[in-house]
Amino acid sequence: MATLNVELGNRSYPIIVGNGLLRDEAVLAPYIAGDEVVVLTNETIAPLYLDQVTTSLKDRQFICQVLPDGEQFKNLDTLQGVFDTLLENRCSRATTLIALGGGVIGDVVGFAAACYQRGIPFIQLPTTLLAQVDSSVGGKTAVNHPQGKNMIGAFHQPACVVSDTGTLATLDPRQLAAGIAEVIKYGLIRDQKFFSWLEENIERLLRYEDDALEFVILESCRHKAQVVANDEREAGERALLNLGHTFGHAIEAATDYVGWLHGEAVAVGMVMAATMSQKMGWLDAAEVERVRELVKRTGLPSEPPASMSPDDFMKHMAVDKKVSSGRIRLVLLNELGQASLISDYPDELLVEVLDAFCI
Ligand code: NAD
Ligand code: GLY
Repeated sequence: MATLNVELGNRSYPIIVGNGLLRDEAVLAPYIAGDEVVVLTNETIAPLYLDQVTTSLKDRQFICQVLPDGEQFKNLDTLQGVFDTLLENRCSRATTLIALGGGVIGDVVGFAAACYQRGIPFIQLPTTLLAQVDSSVGGKTAVNHPQGKNMIGAFHQPACVVSDTGTLATLDPRQLAAGIAEVIKYGLIRDQKFFSWLEENIERLLRYEDDALEFVILESCRHKAQVVANDEREAGERALLNLGHTFGHAIEAATDYVGWLHGEAVAVGMVMAATMSQKMGWLDAAEVERVRELVKRTGLPSEPPASMSPDDFMKHMAVDKKVSSGRIRLVLLNELGQASLISDYPDELLVEVLDAFCI
């Protein structure tokens, strides 16, 4: 078991990573503030891991709510159902919510905790690689609105994050690869050595080797914790965590958020961002090829859907959260392991990149 901290003054919290932690009652206990606990999970994860969590709660009073599984349920209706449960059970402000699941559960439960009685504590028990390396850390919580993903939300930091790497054994290989996309992102934006390590060890991750998974979770969380500590509300540096996301969100939106996993769209977006970085004169062709090759070896797509045109990209990129004063801002790579947020790129270079990828 290894622990690192997200340093945010009196809202600091630990990220605890290890195999078998859900079964360990001593891990959770210090982070449950009051007497009341509500565990929220979904119908896929409940039969796999809910018993382990409730057993580790031992003599505490708790209730459980099992939500439907899927991004389409990350909405205000589901949130209302959570509030109904909390109110029907007379839950007080001393209640701790526990989010057991992937990024969808973490985002919904985190937002419920941010809102209920103006804010109660919550704990993240992430069970997907994407949630363990990214979404459970940093306090971004949200639900989707029909007009936009993650548009209704709040910053609300958890009391702790407990990542049981053992839960990844039941994760679908496609979901594992989507999580690895976010891991590759940390190498590209902050850590060339980590990127090289991934090139050498990607097969170990794809074989679900526990020590390799634990290593990348800790490295990813170390990077994310530093970024969040420097820039909790995304005034600057935190935007770099969105490498590949502007292109990727366009793919997700153009495909109506079905068919493509977030990590898959981000993978294509990272290859596109690397190509744009080459056009800026920052990366050379061999470096772009290294990015494309690692994405492909992970089993992730490196090209957008054939149905997408440059106009489709422009239309959807124009509504991205990173648009500022009418300019689409892009996270680009100054070199492998270093990124910047750029709005003063020549427009024709972006057009050239979109033309090259949409054939
Ligand atoms: P997800 O939560 O939908 O989980 C993917 C699938 O895997 C689901 O069907 C889930 O039931 C299943 N699953 C989860 N754990 C499992 C396990 N251990 N074994 C078997 N099946 C399991 O998707 P995700 O990729 O974890 O998260 C995506 C969500 O995260 C999106 O809504 C995205 O917007 C959000 N997100 C948030 C942040 C943030 O900072 N808050 C960052 C990135 C992504
Ligand atoms: N996933 C991007 C962030 O947390 O800021």
